[in-house]
Amino acid sequence: MLPSPLLEVSNLQVSYHIRTKSVKALRGINFSLFENEILAFTGESGSGKTTAALACCGLLPANAHLKGSVRFKGVDLYSVSVKKLHQLRGKGIAFIFQDPQSALNPVLTAGKQVAEVLHRHRGLRGQILMQETRKLFRQVGLKHSHITSYPFALSGGECQRIMIAAACAGNPALLIADEPTSNLDLIVENEVLALLEKLQKGYRFSLLLISHDLRVIARLAQRVAIFNSGLIVEEGTVEQVFKSPRHPYAKRLLATVLHKGAGE
Ligand SMILES: Nc1ncnc2c1ncn2[C@@H]1O[C@H](COP(=O)(O)OP(=O)(O)O)[C@@H](O)[C@H]1O
Ligand SMILES: [Mg+2]
Repeated sequence: MLPSPLLEVSNLQVSYHIRTKSVKALRGINFSLFENEILAFTGESGSGKTTAALACCGLLPANAHLKGSVRFKGVDLYSVSVKKLHQLRGKGIAFIFQDPQSALNPVLTAGKQVAEVLHRHRGLRGQILMQETRKLFRQVGLKHSHITSYPFALSGGECQRIMIAAACAGNPALLIADEPTSNLDLIVENEVLALLEKLQKGYRFSLLLISHDLRVIARLAQRVAIFNSGLIVEEGTVEQVFKSPRHPYAKRLLATVLHKGAGE
């Protein structure tokens, strides 16, 4: 018997309301994510990947209307109280954004932003809080001197490492990374991906990774879902989908990449 999924999304529909207009961002998607698994979302811009990720942790903006269900550890996130939702999200789900520099708080040092999560989630304080903060900085490949730096003084790659440290500080069951390396140059991208891979193995969280880069997906993920116009048009193991895509959009997407690869 298959274990029950950590995250189970059924017939999820989201539309955004702007004045009198409504944009359908998701038109009924289904997927599951199991413990200790890496699932990737890919597909063109505007196809609904970020909307799906935000819906999985109750972070959709106020103008979003949602139908369907998102179950995390068996609990429907949208049928519980706001307080319970905050608890579930806080304890179980961490989110890494595309643009770390703007996601970090500009008036707090890097160390404070990580320490704050350790304090809130694990109740640490004093010497132990300092020790754990240092340990996390080491784990994500930052120097101790970075603890007292402010985000503006750090590179994009360093900021992303701080976001990752803050995410791991809460010891999440699920980490959602929305194009975590798209603003980084290739060398830093590879380092950050290697870091995510290492931490996933160590902390054993489930990872929902959104990426345009099929090489990144092939390297990290076990399963992949391809988005097109608010639907998941193809879903399966990376091997299945990359070797023999069935949906015409998935075929085109993979052919473009293979073509580019051959020309490089
Ligand atoms: N806050 C918002 N208000 C209105 N429309 C939005 C908002 N966020 C996203 N959208 C629209 O929803 C659709 C899906 O967007 P998004 O989920 O960001 O796609 P992706 O992450 O695949 O690029 C797009 O048409 C986008 O313009
Ligand atoms: Mg997006």
